[in-house]
Amino acid sequence: MSEQFDRHSGEVPSTDSVFPNHVSSRSLQGRSLVTLDDISLPQIKDLLDRAAYIDSHRREVAHTCDGRVLATLFYEPSTRTRLSFETAMLRLGGQVIGFAGAQLASVSKGESISDTLKTVSNYADIVAMRHPKEGAALVASRAASVPVINAGDGGHMHPTQTLTDLATIRARKGRLTNLTIGMCGDLTFGRTVHSLISTLCRLGQVDFVLISPDELKTPEYILERIDASPTCTYRETSDLGEVIGDLDILYMTRVQKERFFNEDDYLRLRDTYILDEEKLKAARPDMAILHPLPRVNEITAGVDQDPRAAYFEQVRNGMLVRMALESALLGDELPGYQVRKEVQA
Ligand code: NCD
Repeated sequence: MSEQFDRHSGEVPSTDSVFPNHVSSRSLQGRSLVTLDDISLPQIKDLLDRAAYIDSHRREVAHTCDGRVLATLFYEPSTRTRLSFETAMLRLGGQVIGFAGAQLASVSKGESISDTLKTVSNYADIVAMRHPKEGAALVASRAASVPVINAGDGGHMHPTQTLTDLATIRARKGRLTNLTIGMCGDLTFGRTVHSLISTLCRLGQVDFVLISPDELKTPEYILERIDASPTCTYRETSDLGEVIGDLDILYMTRVQKERFFNEDDYLRLRDTYILDEEKLKAARPDMAILHPLPRVNEITAGVDQDPRAAYFEQVRNGMLVRMALESALLGDELPGYQVRKEVQA
């Protein structure tokens, strides 16, 4: 357990003191994104609208961030998240600096996150940071003088993956409410699960089916979040086969090897759920299968051909939502994009 965050209570320092008006403020310009709780629901929907607009206006938006520099500070491994943040900035006309792997950065000499962020603020207009410690993104956002985007802080949150997941759910189902969503696998350490549940609880009516072995159940602070929502419910089970037929969305996750204290526990639990073509026979024909990737064994390659598989679509949406977010935090307007009234209010 880290010194900055209690996994079970979910206690991280509040962002309220950093952004006193953060939820009501009309523009995202200059703000950091540590969790999606930092921004309002109309702003979240606006980011999804921007992502869809960018997709159909690639040429028009290609110079939106001309002259801007993004720094990607990745203290943990990543393929999609880092490359999509970087591609997003390049496709908006900006440029990219950064490091991937803490061993390459001054942290290996003992530098603090705050000092690194104070330094990088002199070089870059915006920062995307991934770090193994819960709460690190908040610390970074307090030290930096430019917007910081949390690209994953330990087992806590991963807000840009959630924007990616929401864009994919909206594209597949046409709505973000009135859904039965199965979350399957490592629900203890999976930060994408924690982020997505927290945001869906604000967005609408969702019945969550939490599918995990006993050792990898959803943390208490996330269950409390569902309990606190007047429109959402949950049930917990360890049997995927028993519930798969009820689901509109099945969100598969990897067992998070790097967050285990004991290799034997990891080896025992890693293959608990393997989604294959046989298991899918019991699922609805219009269920969508999501996975933040990387997958290990939890979805067999044979499932990739199934029209219900949406995980490579998610990858594409990941780049589009990061284009939307980077330009919005920089205050660089997308040419021709009309902001809806409720976002201006
Ligand atoms: C996820 C992450 O890093 O939390 N990956 C990602 O960002 N696409 C999920 C994972 O690593 O299992």
